[in-house]
Amino acid sequence: MIDKAHDEKRQGEAFAPFKSDSTAWRKKFYIESYGCAMNFADSEVVASILNKEGFGATGVAAEADLILVNTCSIREKAEQTIRKRLTDFKKIKKNKPGTLVGVLGCMAERLKAKFLEEEKLVDIVVGPDAYRSLPGLVEEAESGQKAINVLLSRDETYADISPVRLNSNGISAFVSIMRGCNNMCSFCVVPFTRGRERSRDAESILNECRELFENGYREVTLLGQNVDSYYYEAPQTLPSGNGGAVTFAKLLEKVALISPFLRVRFSTSHPKDITDEVLHTMTRYANICKSIHLPVQSGSTRILQMMNRTYTRQWYMAKVDRIRELLPGCGISSDIIAGFCTENGEDHKDTLSIMEYSNYDYSYMFFYSERPGTLAQRRYVDDVPQKVKKERLAEIVEMQNRLSLESNQRDLGGTFEVLIESSSKKSDENWMGRSSQNKVVVFPKANHNCKPGDYVQVKVDSCTQGTMMGKIVSTIPSFVNDTI
Ligand code: 5AD
Ligand code: SF4
Repeated sequence: MIDKAHDEKRQGEAFAPFKSDSTAWRKKFYIESYGCAMNFADSEVVASILNKEGFGATGVAAEADLILVNTCSIREKAEQTIRKRLTDFKKIKKNKPGTLVGVLGCMAERLKAKFLEEEKLVDIVVGPDAYRSLPGLVEEAESGQKAINVLLSRDETYADISPVRLNSNGISAFVSIMRGCNNMCSFCVVPFTRGRERSRDAESILNECRELFENGYREVTLLGQNVDSYYYEAPQTLPSGNGGAVTFAKLLEKVALISPFLRVRFSTSHPKDITDEVLHTMTRYANICKSIHLPVQSGSTRILQMMNRTYTRQWYMAKVDRIRELLPGCGISSDIIAGFCTENGEDHKDTLSIMEYSNYDYSYMFFYSERPGTLAQRRYVDDVPQKVKKERLAEIVEMQNRLSLESNQRDLGGTFEVLIESSSKKSDENWMGRSSQNKVVVFPKANHNCKPGDYVQVKVDSCTQGTMMGKIVSTIPSFVNDTI
């Protein structure tokens, strides 16, 4: 299953520039990204800023004048992987003196100047809100100084920067709609690395989505740490300032109205913030995908309280009921943490049972990793032994595997509208795409004259836990049928 929020397969992915890029760039940069989709979207903003300064992307680190790593701090393991990567780049630097290495993103924000002191190989450190200053910092570093900007901002959204789409399938794109997070979940480092929550100008989001659609894209995923608290009021002095405030439900509607051929997804929703207004908007537009990522984190009310999630087990279950009532057949997925501070066997059972109750199609599952500076690190003892954390995580994974398989089995015999994304990885004879519910569907190209970006109706006849297989029964999109 392809994770929209935190794709394991994409960790460490480097930009592969389009082959057709014939621009004579002044210098070359290489960028490798870790972490969530927000971080990958940020790398596209960075690429855009660097392009303007005459830097072109290369997919080969050894070829670059500037090597950038866009980092993640969410778990200790992510930071360890990145540290190891930085030592690889040290070798390149040795062979090619003058190569600059920069650390961007959440780990840069968390460790700040420590990076320059400890890691002798790093020349530039830039936090998530300071990417506009990158060209200046590169110049400083070129003159032999250590360059750093980790200032967080209250209003930076990079609204006016048109991200450079690289490594894209040309069909689906991420669009950042807000930055930062105000939730203060006690386990989470994000409020410290990405700062206060702020929403991006609605008009700039719509323009970006329209432009993507005009360039052949057929799916946008609206991104934010907590999309349901999106709220934008245009300043009164602007012509767009008379339209009133834009809530997330309104924004979803505006994006959906661009074209019935443009699918809209969003991630991530906080269970406390997703409103009936959003659910009703989803019912009204076929092109708003019926899939909600609703991280539960734990099924125990006591643990949820310690996590500062601000909802109880019962409240979460009622939210799931409401989604099932208003949007029957809607996909629901989750994030789950095993072994948070003081978690006992009963709490763990509560997590397993809420997974079963919610019937998640898929989940991202982790064991708790204490992060320096978080509320949990300051308030609680990380007292669940590693062995127990791993055992519980294994049980959670086993439960999810069963639920995913059962979910796919329930869909056998059904016909689903699939947006074709690419040839399947395993065989060029097959297409791969996704259903509105975000399930991966693979089917033979056969004699149908289809291409990526087309909508087809696929009848599903077999499945594994992660993929559904079927055959095309019609190449006419349902929304076209509706209007005939
Ligand atoms: N330890 C383990 N998992 C974490 N997450 C966030 N912080 C931690 C941590 N300290 C998980 C949460 C979140 C997802 C992106 O990562 O489940 O939703
Ligand atoms: Fe994304 Fe959080 Fe990792 Fe930062 S720490 S890159 S916000 S997952």
